[in-house]
Amino acid sequence: MKTGILKLLREHEGYISGQELCRQFGVSRTAVWKAVNQLKEEGYGIEAVQNKGYRLRSNPDVLSSSELKSRIRNQWAGSSIYYYEETGSTNIDAKRLGEEGADHGTVVVADKQNAGRGRRGRTWQSPAGKDIYFTILLRPRFLPDKAAGLTLVMALSVAQAVERICGLQAGIKWPNDVVMNGKKICGILTEMNVETDYIQHVVIGVGINVNLDEMPGEISRTATSILLESGKETARAELLQEVLARFEENYGIYERKLDLRDMLGEYNGHLVNMGKQVKVLDPKGEFEGIARGIDASGELLVETQDGKTVKVYAGEVSVRGMYGYV
Ligand code: BTN
Repeated sequence: MKTGILKLLREHEGYISGQELCRQFGVSRTAVWKAVNQLKEEGYGIEAVQNKGYRLRSNPDVLSSSELKSRIRNQWAGSSIYYYEETGSTNIDAKRLGEEGADHGTVVVADKQNAGRGRRGRTWQSPAGKDIYFTILLRPRFLPDKAAGLTLVMALSVAQAVERICGLQAGIKWPNDVVMNGKKICGILTEMNVETDYIQHVVIGVGINVNLDEMPGEISRTATSILLESGKETARAELLQEVLARFEENYGIYERKLDLRDMLGEYNGHLVNMGKQVKVLDPKGEFEGIARGIDASGELLVETQDGKTVKVYAGEVSVRGMYGYV
C-alpha cells in the first residue's frame, strides 16, 4: 500500500484527500496515516492539510523499491525490483535470482556495492548514496550468438536516458562505455548462462557515475560523473526509470530482427569514435585505422591505411583513441 500511495501522490498534481486514499486501498484512515508517516520517515516531504488531504512536495534521492515501483510503467523491464542498501555485486544477485527462476525483466538495484565488478576482472568502485548500480535479468528467446548485441542496446539506452533527463550530450565509446566530454560516466558488464544452444539467462549490469563530486586519483583521467560535467545533481530514480523505459523499447526493436539494423543511425550518431583514428588492441596484433561506425551485428568497422575495412568484434578487443581513452 505504501508504494500505491506514493504512486497516487506522484501522479496527482494537487492534494489527494485521505478519504480518497482510504477508498482506493480499502483501508482505514489510521492505516493511511501510518503509511504516510512511513514515507515521511524515508525522507518524502508530504504535506498534510486539514480538509484538503495529502500532497507530495519533495522526493528524497533514493532507489528503494517503493520509489522505483511507484515510477516504472513498463511492460516487463523492472516488473520485479529487488533493492539492497548494500550488497556485494548486483550482477551476482541477479545471477542467483536467475538460477532461482526469476522473471525476464527482474531488476536488482543497490545503493552501495562492496564487491562491484568491472570488465576484464577489474573492480567497480561503488560508494553509497551517489551513483546507480543495477542489473537486469533477461531470458531472451534467441540463440546465444545474438546476445552480444544486447550490451550495445543497453549502452544506447543509457546514453538516450542521460540526454533526456539531464539535458546533456552523452556519447558511446565502442562497444559499451557511455561517455561525457571524452570521459566515462557508465560501464556495462554483461554475463550469460548458456546451456548448449540455449540461453538460460543473461544479466546486464550497469554502473552510472551520477552525483559523485570527486573522482579518486588516477581514475579521474578517464572517468567522470554527470554532476562533475553538468554542475547539477540528478535524481537517480528518475534517471534509472528512463534507462529502463528506453531499454524496454530498444530491446523490442532488437528482438524483431535480431540485429542492430534499426538502431544503426541512433547508435552511430552517439559513437564518439566515429571518423576518428583508433588503435585496435587485438591480442593477435595491434593495428590502427579510422573508425567508420558499427554494422548490424555490432562489429566496429575500421578502415586501415591500405583502404581495407576490418570488422572488429567486441569480445577480446578494445579500442583506444590515439591520444587517450576516447
Ligand atoms: C566496466 O568495467 O566498464 C563495467 C562496469 C560494470 C559495473 C556494474 S555496477 C552494477 C553491476 N554490478 C557489478 O558488480 N558490476 C555492474
